[in-house]
Amino acid sequence: MSQKIFVFDTTLRDGEQSPGCSMNFEEKIRMARQLERLQVDVIEAGFPIASDGDFESVREIAKQVKGCSVAALSRATIADIDRAWEALKPASKPRIHTFIATSDIHLKYKLRKTREQVLDDAVKAVRRAKSYCEEVEFSCEDGSRSDIGYLCQILEAVIAEGATVVNIPDTVGYSIPDEYGKIIRTLIERVPNISKTTVSVHCHDDLGLAVANSLAGIANGARQVECTINGIGERAGNASLEEIAMAIKTRHEKLGFETNVNPEEIYKTSRLLTTLTGMHVQRNKAVVGENAFAHEAGIHQDGVLKNPLTYEIMTPQSIGIKHSTLVLGKHSGRHALKQRYSELGYELSTEELDAAYKLFTKIADEKKEVFDDDLIAILEDEVSSMSSLYTLENLQVTSGLNVVPTAMVGLKRNDEILQDSATGDGPVDAAYRAIERITGISGQLLDYSIKSVSWGHDAIGEVFVKIAIDGYVFNGRSASTDVITGSVKAYLNAINHASTARFRRQQNAEAKAESAAV
Ligand code: KIV
Ligand code: ZN
Repeated sequence: MSQKIFVFDTTLRDGEQSPGCSMNFEEKIRMARQLERLQVDVIEAGFPIASDGDFESVREIAKQVKGCSVAALSRATIADIDRAWEALKPASKPRIHTFIATSDIHLKYKLRKTREQVLDDAVKAVRRAKSYCEEVEFSCEDGSRSDIGYLCQILEAVIAEGATVVNIPDTVGYSIPDEYGKIIRTLIERVPNISKTTVSVHCHDDLGLAVANSLAGIANGARQVECTINGIGERAGNASLEEIAMAIKTRHEKLGFETNVNPEEIYKTSRLLTTLTGMHVQRNKAVVGENAFAHEAGIHQDGVLKNPLTYEIMTPQSIGIKHSTLVLGKHSGRHALKQRYSELGYELSTEELDAAYKLFTKIADEKKEVFDDDLIAILEDEVSSMSSLYTLENLQVTSGLNVVPTAMVGLKRNDEILQDSATGDGPVDAAYRAIERITGISGQLLDYSIKSVSWGHDAIGEVFVKIAIDGYVFNGRSASTDVITGSVKAYLNAINHASTARFRRQQNAEAKAESAAV
């Protein structure tokens, strides 16, 4: 009989807070809905006291996600816990996740507290959280570098207060598998009331050992694993969900564990995160990298052709990569497009199909064959701009040697066409300046990247930009066979995110002013 390992996904908290991985409100909701389809057991949706934006997104995820627990992080203080609970209230399975550092280094230099004071804070935090909801998780930050006797003492105390999960993070990614496994085993052996709780592992990847350490923790008795999609997270990241889930599944006979994760949703979830954040995984990344299932060496290819078992320990299909039986082109109709999206796991509404079909016909005209990755890029492009304030109506650029790069841009806002032109360092810069003149929103370009989605000289280029506006960072993306159009649409996508955020901030400020007046 296999034992169940609970999967706690922290992509939207530990992952999202790391550089290059920020998401806006709508993006976080999309990601949470996909994590629900992936069938994780817990989604850590954010850190509500950190900002109003975090609070709002945790609350919305708590409202929308019903298939799993929704957790919110809080330090071990009453104010943090109250704020986390405010955000979590609408959840059908809310979990307050409270933490405090327990290592002597953190106590001495960061918290400037004694062990007794930290123990007292931890107990009070769990007591407060427990007054709100049944599921309460307590984490010992820097647990792997904490004194084991003290860890036992603190765990016994928080479990007595009702902590349903106790988590032992390797916060700085310092541990090695034998050592980390031993910490988990010792806690399970020495904490007298440990059977009333679930022990959890949370490992960072500074030495590239996050997944190995997590598996060692599980082998020694932990039954919850905390991880992120594509391994995003602080510094070198967190343990990667897809690697853990596939290790447990592929080596099921040896390990004897199982998770509730639906492996066929893995690729789509990984791809969605890349699309939303612009943070690509390396080609040779385990499980979801572009090369993960590519056999290049002649001997390997020969073996795989004779029998895939020779070199393939898992199949691309098992993580949801579907192989096309038919490639779409300009003669393919709406029905074929809908069918292919459905095979790829996307059930489109009529509006989404209309939007995707519009861009598909345009791209199929420019490109002989439209591949599956192109279709996913098209979908992301059209769906993300469906409810946009500004859409690109027309674009004309002049550039070359010894000419001043100039762009003329036409944007549609509601039913009005707004036009302007500008010069710049290059055609893209000129178009960005024209957009700034039209929208009145000026952004500082922080990052720009372009990557081909499929292959061939007519491949679709996926453009990602990151811009800073009003002190906030916004992502923008687009897919096009024309790199300049793609660059302009990606910038506009970020501008649209910024204007939605401005609108939402205004609404919040008005609501606060109204409630203060009452
Ligand atoms: O790495 C860590 O210690 C954490 C805790 C807040 C759980 O992310
Ligand atoms: Zn962490």
